[in-house]
Amino acid sequence: MLNFHDNNLFIEQVRLLDIVEKYNTSTYVYSQDQIIKNFEKYTRELTEIAGGMICFACKSNSNGTILKLLAQHGAGADTTSGGEIYRCLKAGFNPDKIVYAGVGKTREEIAYAIKSNIFMFNVESEEELYVIDQIANQCQHKVRIAIRINPDVTPDTHSYIVTGSKGTKFGIPYEKAVQIYLNASKKKNLIVSGIHFHIGSQIVDLEPFKLAAQKIKSIIDILNTYNIKVNCINCGGGLGIKYNNTTNVISQHQLMTEMFNIFGKNNKFIFEPGRSIIANAGCMLVKVIYSKISGNKHFIITDAGMNDLIRPTLYGAYHEILPVFQHNNTQNVITDIVGPICETGDFLAKDIMFPIVKQNEVLIVKNTGAYCSSMSSEYNSRPKIAEVLVKNDNFMLIRKRACYDDLLLNEI
Ligand code: LLP
Repeated sequence: MLNFHDNNLFIEQVRLLDIVEKYNTSTYVYSQDQIIKNFEKYTRELTEIAGGMICFACKSNSNGTILKLLAQHGAGADTTSGGEIYRCLKAGFNPDKIVYAGVGKTREEIAYAIKSNIFMFNVESEEELYVIDQIANQCQHKVRIAIRINPDVTPDTHSYIVTGSKGTKFGIPYEKAVQIYLNASKKKNLIVSGIHFHIGSQIVDLEPFKLAAQKIKSIIDILNTYNIKVNCINCGGGLGIKYNNTTNVISQHQLMTEMFNIFGKNNKFIFEPGRSIIANAGCMLVKVIYSKISGNKHFIITDAGMNDLIRPTLYGAYHEILPVFQHNNTQNVITDIVGPICETGDFLAKDIMFPIVKQNEVLIVKNTGAYCSSMSSEYNSRPKIAEVLVKNDNFMLIRKRACYDDLLLNEI
């Protein structure tokens, strides 16, 4: 997706500096081709071997144009709020392909989801189950549900994005699963048809997925003895990407084959990938405002801060950064690349080897397609930045840069 020609970095056939000339910095840029390639790795596997849906976890990137693109290619959506359901419907997702998880669905959100005719609720607690039944009754609707099981499996990833361990807020403990399925099966407005697990994010090994799936399979086997059939298996998302060259990541093929082997191919499978579809399809272009030396360290101060990209400071995440115009024969020095925000935690990279750059040079921050724009804020009253989609040798604005007036939009 990214390649150098004559020392200039290109995304597909577009020179990154041309995007900067037209739309300035900081700007998020996405490759349409890469998004579709990533998505098709999942669909190919699913259609060739089993059946089901790939529901894009739209929390990873909720830009309407990107959602629309995925919807047009047949994706479903994994949502976690009324707002996400709204965005997905607006983007053209078939409600029949929308699933809805989340530990704190409000009554209003549940009613909205029911009226929108979404495919399935992934229920995260016993109380929620009864509230859904109640509201479904008021709406005179029958509602399809899966129960999200917490399998007590801890993948090796940042602790803030582990969701499958005992003691996290997610799902129903697997020891209680059978009883809760039995209770659910007695509710007249619920159609009990699925089981869901999602153990965390940025997971690079097969083992935790396998362990979790085996535990879920044993629950399905017990449910069968009670004549409760759950044949919609939602394996969640969580597959990681290679943020640096030293990480080895399992492929979609390995993950899905393992799931099909454990559960059997005759089920309907749902996968909810977010990061593995969109992360490496996006980058961020930032400009150098100043450089300075403090305490023997070089600092590069850019026009993007932790409000635009919170992952480095929140999860200690690494995003590779490069100048978009290649420096030949320059010496690298230990550098922090920081933003303009008044916090020491405002950095894009820490203690990396980086060339000495000049004011106004443009840098690229890689792999920022997932959980970057969607987690951005206006902290320090910094308007949200622009987003651009590249297709072959064309590019178009898909979110315009906000202005100062936007900062006051809802204030009274
Ligand atoms: N399904 C459920 C129920 C989820 O909660 C998530 C992500 C996904 C699917 C998609 O997971 P993925 O395939 O993207 O790993 N902000 C963090 C990641 C938080 C993930 C939250 N849940 C980050 O920047 O690393």
